[in-house]
Amino acid sequence: MRAFYLESYGCQMNLADSELIAGVLSGCGYRPTDAAEDADVILLNTCAIREHAEQRVAQRVRQLIAARGYREGVKIGLAGCMAQHHREKLLSMVPGLDFVVGPDGYRRLGELLEAEAPTADVQLDRDETYEGLLPARADGVRAWLTIMRGCNRFCTFCVVPYVRGRERSLPADVLIEELETIAASGYREVVLLGQTVNAYRHDGVDFGELLRRCAAVDGIERVRFTSPHPADMTDSAIEAMGDCPEVCPYIHLPLQSGSDTILEAMDRGHTVSEYRELVSRLRDAVPGMSFSTDIIVGYPGETEEDFEATSSMMDEIDYDHAFLFKYSAREGTRAYKVAETVSEKEKGRRLQRLIEEQEHRSLASNHRTLGLPTEVLVEGPAKRQNGWMSGKNPQFKTVVFEPTDAGPGDLVRVEVSSATSHTLVGRQTGL
Ligand code: SAH
Ligand code: SF4
Ligand code: F3S
Repeated sequence: MRAFYLESYGCQMNLADSELIAGVLSGCGYRPTDAAEDADVILLNTCAIREHAEQRVAQRVRQLIAARGYREGVKIGLAGCMAQHHREKLLSMVPGLDFVVGPDGYRRLGELLEAEAPTADVQLDRDETYEGLLPARADGVRAWLTIMRGCNRFCTFCVVPYVRGRERSLPADVLIEELETIAASGYREVVLLGQTVNAYRHDGVDFGELLRRCAAVDGIERVRFTSPHPADMTDSAIEAMGDCPEVCPYIHLPLQSGSDTILEAMDRGHTVSEYRELVSRLRDAVPGMSFSTDIIVGYPGETEEDFEATSSMMDEIDYDHAFLFKYSAREGTRAYKVAETVSEKEKGRRLQRLIEEQEHRSLASNHRTLGLPTEVLVEGPAKRQNGWMSGKNPQFKTVVFEPTDAGPGDLVRVEVSSATSHTLVGRQTGL
């Protein structure tokens, strides 16, 4: 049996797509392998969000091509967002590359692999939802379920709408049926995925309604979702979060900037005070609500004052976690045409400031849980502490605890006895 080797980069949407790709390749008679040197097909599922993401892949694929040497018939390809970003140009940019496939081309992977000459399949397709394709999901307690693809927002800095195409949602009945299969396969938690996941809408079912229907699926103990867009957050979704105990009290709500001038320049579709109001509605509706965010520093025109506004807004919201990025100009986006005003060095300084502030904030937040019980969905052995177990609590914090009889998939109560800025440590006190 021929084998494929797959490496994945980028966001969870992309990781979920890798499961789809693995499913398609299995259907074509390939088996997965962890060793690139044994594979007949080597595939990197790539990200284009920042220049750095592309540079890493460019290096890695050249390395894999060099390692392949003269092995007969081994094909190497690039899939995903970077593939879509550069399209067929990649075939000449990377000598030795055999194929390029964009996010809407995975159904045709089999044919692509049969092609004699280097080929690109980079047609975006506004109807492709991959309905009916079976992803090869990774084992574990948590499964991903892509409920919508693409993005219509065109934030000025972002390449996603160009590489993933327009927004499209899957039918709710199809999703619920898939979730029932997911539950029957032993998963206990589902993460609903989409670039603007809360913009989900199909045949009159909105995101709030879908949350309720997912929460009602037998065997699914926890429902999460990512990434919601602040401007797409409706009362219906907030009420569903408040009403359904299965929907976790945690939301990743990208802020990008705490300055109205910059939010406006980014065309994010909301102001700082609207975001603040949304956070307070969520806090009122959902007990124990926890927040994380994405921030970009050094967007063109970001002054020291704008930056300070971001820093104080992060303090005010009191995020438990933040993904912090330096602005990276992406060809094809609206902001690409705008001259940069913040030097790399200054971006680095601003980033470092926010990283340090967030570390303190995360630590303080974790310290507030000391002595308190928290519910953990057990995933498996802890990575660092030998023999200990690890899982996530509802707020998506990693919790490690002394070994008990509890195994993967069990929900247990753990009392927190110590904490770092990234991990809670404790002892199981109940089931
Ligand atoms: N759909 C999500 C974000 C997806 S991209 C949303 O709208 O919230 C993930 C994060 O990458 C973004 O939230 C943003 O913070 C960051 N990002 C996107 N484009 C970027 C760029 N050109 N430079 C730096 N960071 C960027
Ligand atoms: Fe990019 Fe904005 Fe769409 Fe998010 S909402 S994927 S940041 S364009
Ligand atoms: Fe990257 Fe594509 Fe996701 S650009 S962040 S992998 S949608």
